[in-house]
Amino acid sequence: MSGKLNLMQKVANLYNMCGIVGYIGEENSLPILINGLKALEYRGYDSAGIAIFSNNKVKVRKSVGEVKILENDLKDQTSLVGHLGIGHTRWATHGAPSVINAHPHSDCTRRIFVVHNGIIENYKELKKYLQNRGHSFLSNTDTEIVSHLIEDFLREKKDFKTALFDALKMIKGAYAFAIIDSKNPDTLYAVRLSSPLVIGVGKHENFLASDPSALIGKTKDVIYLKDGEIGEITKGGVSITNLRKQKTPSEIVRLEWDLEQAQKGNYPHFMLKEIFEGAEVVLYALRGRLRSKENLVKLGGLEQVAEKLKETKRLLILACGTSYYAGLVGEYLFEEISKIPTEVHFASEFRYREEPFEKKTVAIAISQSGETADTLAAIRKAKKNGILTLGIVNTVGSTIARETEAGVYNHAGPEIGVASTKAFLSQLTVLTLMAVYLSKSNGKSSNHALLYELERIPEKIRTILSKASEVEKLAEKYKNCDNFLFLGRRYNYPVALEGALKLKEISYIHAEGYGAGEMKHGPIAMICEKLPTMAIVPQNSISEKMFSNLEEIKARKGPIFAIATEGDEGIEMLADNVFFIPKTIEPLEPFLTVIPLQLFAYYIGTKRGFNVDKPRNLAKSVTVE
Ligand code: AGP
Ligand code: GLU
Repeated sequence: MSGKLNLMQKVANLYNMCGIVGYIGEENSLPILINGLKALEYRGYDSAGIAIFSNNKVKVRKSVGEVKILENDLKDQTSLVGHLGIGHTRWATHGAPSVINAHPHSDCTRRIFVVHNGIIENYKELKKYLQNRGHSFLSNTDTEIVSHLIEDFLREKKDFKTALFDALKMIKGAYAFAIIDSKNPDTLYAVRLSSPLVIGVGKHENFLASDPSALIGKTKDVIYLKDGEIGEITKGGVSITNLRKQKTPSEIVRLEWDLEQAQKGNYPHFMLKEIFEGAEVVLYALRGRLRSKENLVKLGGLEQVAEKLKETKRLLILACGTSYYAGLVGEYLFEEISKIPTEVHFASEFRYREEPFEKKTVAIAISQSGETADTLAAIRKAKKNGILTLGIVNTVGSTIARETEAGVYNHAGPEIGVASTKAFLSQLTVLTLMAVYLSKSNGKSSNHALLYELERIPEKIRTILSKASEVEKLAEKYKNCDNFLFLGRRYNYPVALEGALKLKEISYIHAEGYGAGEMKHGPIAMICEKLPTMAIVPQNSISEKMFSNLEEIKARKGPIFAIATEGDEGIEMLADNVFFIPKTIEPLEPFLTVIPLQLFAYYIGTKRGFNVDKPRNLAKSVTVE
């Protein structure tokens, strides 16, 4: 029976770190694996690898860089023929990009081969446990513990499936695995927990992929593995059980997507897909770092400098563009929560300043790509002046990640759209965690309200996203404006700047972000019927001040589009249009107020007919000065 998944279900299935492909059937698996990996290339990755069961043993090939490098390495390898294989494109989270860290990973006996999407939260403890039981590891990845853990249970004479189930009970995190057991070459194993996996159903052959786009052209019939399900895939059929070893029914869904649609998860653009990943990336950044019952934040990436950080007297945040605006939110967070004086610099300016450096200053570089030339130069300057440097970076193994002494990875997965959206939310999450981590009150009840609310932010983001059509309607009204003013105060001042940047870079409308308190010092001269104002005015300690700004604008016939808190009755008297967001505490308001602004820029850009994924003149990573 074929069923249809609704869009949100399909999209929810598509969020994952990188690419998995698998094949079992009567064809030679190598070309199928390579073509499947190529179809996943759009996701962005750093290395790739395959494992094929050939002539009674599993052969592995890996490479750093593009899939075609791997393909070239293999083209003369006529011996690499086999009907069972798995492949992977890696977006590193643990262990820098390298051949040794590329997947598949194996065990001591080279019997079990695993590729993995996602993060194993408790890999450090499991690695130590396995090393104490005599296992030796080749890579620095979290993934490699999986093959050794299964091996360890096999040592107790368990059958493979029992060993697999026992291993899964010990693993914590988000994962999708494809596994080959060289002693069971008639079966391809698939396991899913949080990171998507889809089984492609063919005739005397079956496929596995982390994203339906890898199956296009092979089959349209797919079975979406659900969380906690294990698939045993043979060339003749699929059997699915849950972690309690109960058989679960498998529903075959017919996909009518073309490649492009599949890659964007049925979204028209990566930018929109990534805006809709906003809630997930907050969860990914929190994963394994927030012990809310103890009001405790643990940041493994800062452990080696924890003692030094305790003496921090001043923080410098160095970044560019959207990352700089996240840094401005960080300034409020560090000063309010950590009680540490903080200044934020455009990295492109900092690198040329003759700034006297105080002792016990710590520099934090924020960079999604980890390759921004200005930010790298600023970090190098700080290091030359004896300043401890930290990174908040999304791309593992990137230059900034390697050149800072320590840091915290975002784990937001690849951001494909040139305009940064989900990375901003991930950066806010890491900055909030860092502010608590650096506070003297980490682990104390005084942070309870903040951390309790932080855990509820993803659901509030989803609530906002469910009303995206309201923003789309308002974009229709404002799409032909030539100028826009964005106003905010305190935590929402950086959001006003970021909202203006998004509108500029996506729709090419001139937009200016301003601290609302500055209106009276000049910008108010611009207010007129032709200049709409986007006012960020959630209910908080300074709402009254914002209302005064809006009165001044209204008195001069300036159109107002307000982002306000659900239940706020007064705002509709002042604003021409209002988009309501859920209530939250002030330090976390940017997580919510930025979402409608991202959507606003997206819808206006598309309504003006522009390529919002690749705006003119812009590069995803600015690696030049
Ligand atoms: C964001 O929408 C822009 N594309 C750009 O400002 C970007 O944030 C900036 O170039 C910094 O990039 P990074 O975070 O990779 O360092
Ligand atoms: N955490 C694994 C690694 O760093 C998998 C990352 C991915 O999803 O590609 O190798």
